[in-house]
Amino acid sequence: MTLWGNRMSAPPAEDMMAFTASLSFDKRLAASDVEGSMAHVRGLHKAGIVDSLELQELLDALQRAGDELASGVFEFQPGDEDIHTAIERRVRELAGTAGAKLHTGRSRNDQVATALRLYARDQLALVANLVLELQRTIERKARDAGQAYLPGYTHMQRAQPVTLAHYLLAHGWALARDVDRLLATLERLDVSPLGAGALAGSSLPLVPDEVAAELGMAKRFENSLDAVSDRDFVAEALFDIALVGIHLSRLGEEFVVFSTEEFGFVRLDDAWSTGSSMLPQKKNPDVAELARGKAGRLVGNLVGVLTTLKGLPLSYNRDLQEDKEPLFDAIDQVSLALVAMEGMLATAVFDTERMQLAADSPMLAAVELAEWLVGRGVPFRDAHATVGSLVRESLERHVPLAELLEAHPSFGSEALSLLEPGSTLRRRRTPGGPGPDAVALQLDSFGRQLGSDAERLAKWRR
Ligand code: ARG
Repeated sequence: MTLWGNRMSAPPAEDMMAFTASLSFDKRLAASDVEGSMAHVRGLHKAGIVDSLELQELLDALQRAGDELASGVFEFQPGDEDIHTAIERRVRELAGTAGAKLHTGRSRNDQVATALRLYARDQLALVANLVLELQRTIERKARDAGQAYLPGYTHMQRAQPVTLAHYLLAHGWALARDVDRLLATLERLDVSPLGAGALAGSSLPLVPDEVAAELGMAKRFENSLDAVSDRDFVAEALFDIALVGIHLSRLGEEFVVFSTEEFGFVRLDDAWSTGSSMLPQKKNPDVAELARGKAGRLVGNLVGVLTTLKGLPLSYNRDLQEDKEPLFDAIDQVSLALVAMEGMLATAVFDTERMQLAADSPMLAAVELAEWLVGRGVPFRDAHATVGSLVRESLERHVPLAELLEAHPSFGSEALSLLEPGSTLRRRRTPGGPGPDAVALQLDSFGRQLGSDAERLAKWRR
């Protein structure tokens, strides 16, 4: 029997239930639903709607239903449309008359919105923590990298040498923005919808402020229509997660490229690589590739929910049930990806010799040569033209750049020191740049950022 069976003259069609039921996936809201229901019944007690004995019976029954669900002995019935229905049905079995008071002043509309917020609050804190763990590994690898350097690329063409630490930290800072975004989403979603009812509150003297406090939420909803129809927090969470996915994808792409024989900048650990079923010699960067691949799926989850929300009239519509699977999938997939990418990175070995060899090409010193002229009073545009011509000449006549420099009236042998391995990097002293001194400061500032983010996150971890 469904909760609403008495209204109908016929039992629900099986295929209708198969289409509309959400139990198969919203089971994972069980603990959050119990938490929301416990706060709700405490509110009913404060409002004088249930007495102390009934409150205790309700809390005991909710606790027991929750325990049964957690241990897997909970017996679902055919009428259990969703986890909320199933728990209420069980509470009524366990607590009789008191159980029949559980849903007083409440609708599944405010109930489900509450449970999903509580669930998202816990899960986003866990995701943010996994991002932090990856960042700590990036920080460690950056410290281990010392003064090693590699070519920095624009347009995938060698541009200027950068320190390996600087390269790694670039990904670390993108992840820092992800943590910041997740924290902002957590702040915004920390609002209790309980007391909004189906859409228009209740004629009973409910106490939504106190219920919000019971839930440890910052405040209650301001508008009951908005409370039951708002899924902004789902869309925001999905965006935050999609962007984490995109950052992992971009890091993954570089590891795919850097681990090719052609680049040879990084060797992935065997435990974090896969083989080929046919080609015995293969060792493949599947973690990095799947991180890249999963990003598409994470973007899809975001676009799916935005599309569901678009054009929905106030207030609750059953379409909103489509918020859950994308959110659950996104949380699962990004968590797996974060852990796997952390493992891959932690065990990866950089071939700094190969990196440096690639970065030591004299062409990568071109802008330093131009800036060397600037230091001697030449306008940059003229200096750029001079070096550009020398580069072209070197390539066309197959003469080493060093030879041309030495013979050039504006340069001479003094400028040759700029072509010495690693020398251009040491000249790069601008703040936030890749020079060793600037990177040492950056490493400290990154460490401080991780420390303060961990502190900000602690508030949300339970
Ligand atoms: N399973 C539903 C959901 O996830 C619960 C709310 C159903 N409410 C309703 N009025 N039919 O949205």
